[in-house]
Amino acid sequence: MGARANINPPGGRNKMHHHPNNFLSAVYYLQTPEAEAEDRILFEDPRPQASVMMPRVVQFNRHNGNVLTFKVRPGRLVMFPAWLKHSVPPNNSQRERISIACNLMFKNFVEESSPALWEGTVTLDPSAHSSTEKRS
Ligand SMILES: [Fe+2]
Repeated sequence: MGARANINPPGGRNKMHHHPNNFLSAVYYLQTPEAEAEDRILFEDPRPQASVMMPRVVQFNRHNGNVLTFKVRPGRLVMFPAWLKHSVPPNNSQRERISIACNLMFKNFVEESSPALWEGTVTLDPSAHSSTEKRS
């Protein structure tokens, strides 16, 4: 697990991103802008093909939008899959936005939790001299 502190001064923001090679991500909010300036984290539809042919929308709602916004406030913990793209809009207040973000990955995740369903035919054995192909 890795963690870091984020401090967004007035005008500060976090561009859309995700956290490769992690399983879960989380953000714990310590301080958010003043109450009148609602603070949010945004999650983007992870399907790239969903925006290829978008019909004209009269009014966005939870059924036709491609971005989900989630209100945040001090003391709130937001957890999400690390592959989910997210961003934080500009801080439009005079008070810093302070949060702690962390990423979680399991040790040996691929080998233990999601092993390959096939058996390879190539070995990386350096003692093999002329061919690295394994025959069974
Ligand atoms: Fe992030």
